[in-house]
Amino acid sequence: MERLLIRGGHALEGEIRISGAKNAALPVLAATLLADGPMKVGNIPHLHDVTTTLELLGRMGVQLTVHEGMEVEVDASTIASFRAPYELVKTMRASILVLGPLLARFGRAEVSLPGGCAIGSRPVDVHIRGLQAMGAQIDISDGYIRAHAGRLQAARVHMQVCTVTGTENLMMAAALARGTSVLENAACEPEVVDLADCLNAMGARISGAGTRTLVIEGVEQLYGVEHRVLPDRIETGTYLTAAAITRGRVKLKDTAPELLGAVLDKLTESGAEIRTGADWIELHMPERPRAVDISTAPYPGFPTDMQAQLCALNTVARGCGRVTETVFENRFMHCLEMQRMGAKIRIDGSTAYIQGVERLTAAPVIATDLRASASLVLAGLVAAGETWVDRIYHIDRGYECIEEKLAQLGADIRRTPE
Ligand code: UD1
Repeated sequence: MERLLIRGGHALEGEIRISGAKNAALPVLAATLLADGPMKVGNIPHLHDVTTTLELLGRMGVQLTVHEGMEVEVDASTIASFRAPYELVKTMRASILVLGPLLARFGRAEVSLPGGCAIGSRPVDVHIRGLQAMGAQIDISDGYIRAHAGRLQAARVHMQVCTVTGTENLMMAAALARGTSVLENAACEPEVVDLADCLNAMGARISGAGTRTLVIEGVEQLYGVEHRVLPDRIETGTYLTAAAITRGRVKLKDTAPELLGAVLDKLTESGAEIRTGADWIELHMPERPRAVDISTAPYPGFPTDMQAQLCALNTVARGCGRVTETVFENRFMHCLEMQRMGAKIRIDGSTAYIQGVERLTAAPVIATDLRASASLVLAGLVAAGETWVDRIYHIDRGYECIEEKLAQLGADIRRTPE
């Protein structure tokens, strides 16, 4: 298993390009199952989760051509299987995104139940109840969700919890259902809007994307189009925080500042000087950062996927920061690893109280999930000595060439076989 070796103490300086958003690429690739002709999806990041999605589609018999610059051509007309097997779903929960499209277009789907994960129980009950409301027969046995339907019927669905992939699954299903569906308490994340834009370009009639209520007039057929996924706001936020924690100065290109409001506000509050243009963000942290309080919330609130990185920033900041996690129940595993690097953190229920120290000290640490791994890399960038980050397959799920991008900014980081 590979590890990352980081020698801390270098201020990050320079420019890098931000990749396409993982959380937009995955639903858009799932949406290609709905198209009656070939689709081209551009700005696809080179990530393990994308490879898993392509493998999933490939195993179903979907034809895939990967062009240079990570543009993927997908033709679902050759589909022969409607199954997402356990061995793929267990490595990527977002595989559940094929459930809605398969059911809507082909009337059947068999998708392994995702189960728990390192950050909480993460059920998919909202997805299932929504599809049942649209007329699907769903049976759960042997760890699989087995779903059948004739043409789905439009429904008014009030989602009990605000779920990103749940909203996406039901939106894709409703796009081909008979009649007009209304999805209430929908997620407003930019990636949901990106998927709606893609579906509308394919011929869907979706309005209200980016608000709490989606109105979806079902159509008979959707067409293959070209779509370019939006930039990754979490990758952007991670590199901005890396610059802030090392008191550096970086410029991130090909990103979308308007998607990062809550994150930029907190970084500014911590003392960063931030300038933005249409598709770039520059951050300079002139002195030791100040601790900030955050509380995660669905978009446009502070993203749970940036919580761990801000914890890392607080560990070396001036003062005490209070970090409250409201989206997932068990998302502080990174704090336990940071304590091993000398961080002063007290966890009380869903809140972590972090008293900043002058300097962290390197230790071997283990990544437990995707964003936790990123936060440990950030901690390593400012720790005295050599930090080894283990189990970095998590990081490869969501960050394209992280060590290359950080090295380009002057970090001393390399990947080594164990
Ligand atoms: C997506 C993102 C992930 C991000 C998360 C929250 C993708 C591929 N992943 O994950 O990076 O951390 O949003 O912003 O887009 N819940 C239920 N029942 C359900 C579904 C969800 O109770 O049927 C709960 C979850 O346990 C969690 C909360 O709702 O507590 C939000 O989860 P959800 O928005 O569904 O996360 P994902 O869509 O899996």
